[in-house]
Amino acid sequence: MSLTSRIMDFFSRKSTVMVAETEQSIKKQAAMGKLTARQRIEALLDNASFHEYDLFVEHKAEDFGMDKKFLPRDGVITGTGDIVGHPICIYAQDFTVAGGSLGLAHARKITKIMDHAVKLGIPLIGINDSGGARIQEGVNSLAGYGEIFFRNTLASGVIPQISVILGPCAGGAVYSPALTDFVFVVDKISKMFITGPEVIKTVLGEEISMEDLGGARIHSEITGNAHFFAESELECFEQIKRLVSFIPWNSTKKAEKFPSKPPKAKYNINAIIPKESTQPYDVRDIIKSLCDDSDFLEVQEHFAANIVIGFARLNGQTIGVVGNQPLVLAGVLDVDSSDKAGRFIRFCDSFNIPLLTLVDLPGYLPGIDQEHAGVIRHGAKILYAYSEATVPKITVILRKAYGGGYIAMCSKHLGADFVFALPTAEIAVMGPEGAANIIFKKEISEASDPDAMRKIKVDEYTQKFANPYKAASAGYIDAVITAEEVREHILHALHIAENKQEFRPYRKHGIPPF
Ligand code: HXC
Repeated sequence: MSLTSRIMDFFSRKSTVMVAETEQSIKKQAAMGKLTARQRIEALLDNASFHEYDLFVEHKAEDFGMDKKFLPRDGVITGTGDIVGHPICIYAQDFTVAGGSLGLAHARKITKIMDHAVKLGIPLIGINDSGGARIQEGVNSLAGYGEIFFRNTLASGVIPQISVILGPCAGGAVYSPALTDFVFVVDKISKMFITGPEVIKTVLGEEISMEDLGGARIHSEITGNAHFFAESELECFEQIKRLVSFIPWNSTKKAEKFPSKPPKAKYNINAIIPKESTQPYDVRDIIKSLCDDSDFLEVQEHFAANIVIGFARLNGQTIGVVGNQPLVLAGVLDVDSSDKAGRFIRFCDSFNIPLLTLVDLPGYLPGIDQEHAGVIRHGAKILYAYSEATVPKITVILRKAYGGGYIAMCSKHLGADFVFALPTAEIAVMGPEGAANIIFKKEISEASDPDAMRKIKVDEYTQKFANPYKAASAGYIDAVITAEEVREHILHALHIAENKQEFRPYRKHGIPPF
C-alpha cells in the first residue's frame, strides 16, 4: 500500500467508527434520556483534555453471527485526560453497541487502561452502561470480567477507583464497581443488578421493573452500593469533580492543598448542641462549624443516615470526617452504619487522609433484628478499621459516648492521637437511667418511694460518670475544651501530626471481619 492509500485507509476507518458513534448512538441514547459515551467523557473531563486510545480495536468473536458484526470500538471508549487539573485514566461503555456488553476485546481495552492508571499512579474512572458479559462470547467474556476484577482488587488502596453507573448495568458491570471505592448513580438512569428482569422472569417466573429491582434510589438508600446520588448526569459529573479535588492521585501522595478559609459564621457549636442531652441536632452543622468555608462533601448521604461520613478541609488540607448523627436513631451504631464508616475509614487510611471523628451516641443498637443481621460481625468492622488506621486520628467527644460506642468511635484505646471533649461530654458504660436501674435495682425496689430513690441514684451516677472528667483524669482524654476552642485544637493537632508515622509488625495482610 502506498503512503497515500494508507492515509486514505486510516481516515476512512476512523470516520466509520466516529460516524457510528455520532449518528446512531446520539439518537439511541437521547431516546433513553442519556448522553453518549463520548458526550459523557467530554462533559466530565477538562476542556479538550481527553486523548483516546485503541479506537481500532475489534472483536474476534465468530459464533452467533458475530463474525459479520462490526462493533465500533468494541463498545467501549478508553483514554486519559484531566479532571479539575488532575490526570486520570477513564473508560466509558457504549450501550448502543451490543448493549455495552463486555467481550474479550472490550475487556482488554479496559484492563489496558487500568494497568496504565496503576503504573502512572493516577485515579481510574469507569463509566458503566452495560448488560454485563457478552453472551455470544461465552467464557471469553467471563474471562474478561475476571481479569478486570483481579485488577480492581490489586489497584485497591493504590489508586482511587471511581465507578459511574449510567444505564442498566448487570453482572460484571456491577461487580467491578462493587470492588471500587466510590459508586455514582443518577436517578431514573442508573440500574444495578446481578441479572435483569428478563432472566428473573425466566428463572423465577416473577415480573419486576428494573427500577424496583435496582434503581438509583434503592442503591443509595437501602443497599448502600452507591455513594453519590444525582438527579442528572451533569450533576453527577459535578459531584465527581468535587470528589477528585478532595482526594490524592495515589496512595503515596497527599491530597492537593487549598488556601485556608474560615468556616461560615452562621454555624456555631454552642447554638447547635441543645442543652438537654436527649434533644437531637444535625451533626453536619457541627462539621460545617469546623471546616474551611463550611464546605462538606457528604458520602452515602442517604444510606445509614445515623452516621455521617465525608470529606472537608481544615487549613486547606483534606480530612475525612466520621460523625454520629443524633438526628437519626440518636446516632447509634448498627450493622449498616458500621459498614459505612468502616469502609470510609479504610479509604482515608489508604490515601493519607487524616480522620476527624465527632462522637455523640448512646452505643450499639440492641435488639433481635440487629443481632440476627450480624451486628457482632458488622459492628466489629469499625473497631478494626479505626485500630488499623495509621493516619492522624483526632476525636472530639461532643456529648454522649456510652459503652461500646465510646470505644468504637476512635477512642484513645483504638489509637486516637488526640481526644478532646467538650464539658458537655458524658462518658460511661451506659446512660445514667439504665445504669441506675441495673446497679441500684435492689435499693430502688426496696425503697419506700422507688421513684425518688431512682432519681437519687440517677443523679449520683450522672455526677460521677456523665461528664468528661473521670475519663480525663485517667488520661483517656487529652483536653477538655470549650466549643470556641475546637477548631483551633484540631488545626493544631493536624499541624503537629503532619509527619506522623506509625509502624506495625510485618504481616501479609490482616483479616478484617468482612
Ligand atoms: C450481549 C446484550 C447483553 C449481553 C444486552 N445486550 N445485554 N448482548 N450480551 N449481556 C444487547 C441486547 O441484545 C440488545 O441488542 C441491546 O443490548 C440492548 O438490550 P435490551 O435488552 O434491548 O435493553 P434493555 O431492555 O434496556 O435491557 C437491558 C438489560 C438486558 C437489563 C441489561 O439487556 C439484560 O438483562 N441483559 C442481560 C443481563 C445479564 O444477565 N447479564 C449478566 C451477564 S453475566 P440489540 O441488538 O437488540 O440492540 C456477567 C458475569 C458476571 O456479567 C460475573 C459476576 C461475578
